[in-house]
Amino acid sequence: MSVRDQTGPAVPTAPGRLPGLGHTVQLYRRPLEFLASLTALGDVVRVYLGPLPAYVLTAPDVVRQVLHDGGQNFDKGRLFERSRPLVGQGLLTAQPQLHRIQRPMIQPAFHRARIAQYTATMRAAAEETMAAWQPGQTVAIDRAMTDLTLSVIARTLFSAPPGSAAFTEVHQTLPVFVSGAGLRALLPAWLLRLPLPANRRFTDAVARLLALTDQAVSSHSSTPNRPDGADGPDGPEDVLSLLLQARDEHGRAMSAQQLRDEVLTLIIAGTETSQAALTWALHLTATHPTVEQRLHEEVDTVLEGRPVTFTDLPHLPHTTRIVNEVLRLYPPWLLMRRALRPVTLGPARLPAGTEIIYSPYLLHHDPRHFPDPDRFDPDRWLTDRARTLPRGAYIPFGAGPRKCIGDSFAAAQATTVLATLAAQWTLRPHTSTPAIPRPTGPLIRPPELRMSVLPRHPHPTSPGEDRAPAS
Ligand code: HEM
Repeated sequence: MSVRDQTGPAVPTAPGRLPGLGHTVQLYRRPLEFLASLTALGDVVRVYLGPLPAYVLTAPDVVRQVLHDGGQNFDKGRLFERSRPLVGQGLLTAQPQLHRIQRPMIQPAFHRARIAQYTATMRAAAEETMAAWQPGQTVAIDRAMTDLTLSVIARTLFSAPPGSAAFTEVHQTLPVFVSGAGLRALLPAWLLRLPLPANRRFTDAVARLLALTDQAVSSHSSTPNRPDGADGPDGPEDVLSLLLQARDEHGRAMSAQQLRDEVLTLIIAGTETSQAALTWALHLTATHPTVEQRLHEEVDTVLEGRPVTFTDLPHLPHTTRIVNEVLRLYPPWLLMRRALRPVTLGPARLPAGTEIIYSPYLLHHDPRHFPDPDRFDPDRWLTDRARTLPRGAYIPFGAGPRKCIGDSFAAAQATTVLATLAAQWTLRPHTSTPAIPRPTGPLIRPPELRMSVLPRHPHPTSPGEDRAPAS
């Protein structure tokens, strides 16, 4: 849709616009610096995605106005729209009318009681990860966290056993999908239709993910409960079983197509996000010795050597602050909405069809709300200042009706895994060079991170240690 720009001089345009390309080069080459620089220009700043104007919101109250809309004035915009024909209309991409039906049907799967059950799966996955480690070994931590988060999502979603073919498939295809989806929002549509290798890789990844999801849904539909019969006291434990049972206000179940879209969406939305958060948490903790020492002291005191449970999580405040700070430093960097009708946002009067960008990264790096914003400082969440933050200044999971449905799941997972690993291992980075963030799709991914793993307590397979004689 072509949109006539009616905002006039009240809205500044970001410097460095190139003819035809707009700000695409800056958004591609140095997106984080570019976005953070816009805060100083105004509450709403115009950028150009090629020839198309888009409006970046830099003030928390303006972002809130957009995110708390009930779907009357804004829908999800170009970022998700371009994925919709490929991945369907799960929660992430659903248009407002469908979203209003789907969200209440899916929400119970993320109820507190369910998160408590999933926490046991998260801890088990962390224990399996550690079981493969040898003292002093070098581990590709980013890959280990991909395996771990995939294992958690596959088990909590459809009780898939670890190591199954489904795992391998998701593992290979998901990164291609996530990076492709983000790039596609920024590039002109004609480029996406060319038979380029990158376009082929993307559509191939989508086709493989869809086939995998179809298979999971159809085999689950015939055996809706956990294959081992170990359902919880409140019924079946995995998310897919709950979705199969869900009914809308008219008593209708989801169609097979809708179910597939929702499962695929949860796989896409729940894996790479959590992998990035965990990898950053392990890297930042390992490179900040005081933070690490206090983490070790906290897990030793609170857990006293036993496995972490859901009820322990509120008693791990330092671990929780590490997670909060990681999500402040490296939240999603680019998300979008589109005005469905003319709207006024701060100084801008925007016509229907206008593309709007909001960025948790930009808001979280505003020095007015987070002094020395690039510094990793979990203790900033201790002070009274944290309580006086303006509403909407810290939104790693978005806000309003489209807020992340997996926020409690993700927070519980990050805290559980971090505490479980820290209780037993110290991680040492291989290089003192700071890790360079890589904005990929809407996420800020860590680079490949190789670290040495050292046991904190005597390890049964440590060289030179007494071992129990084989019986
Ligand atoms: C650290 C981890 C995570 C982060 C930072 C994160 C972030 C976000 C953000 C910012 C949004 C809002 C997007 C928008 O406004 O357009 C969102 C939506 C969503 N997320 Fe997450 N997420 C995380 C983990 C998860 C997990 C574990 C799941 C599921 C298991 C999940 C499922 C979803 C879904 C389904 C939506 C769409 C919600 C709706 O529109 O109703 N996310 N997430």
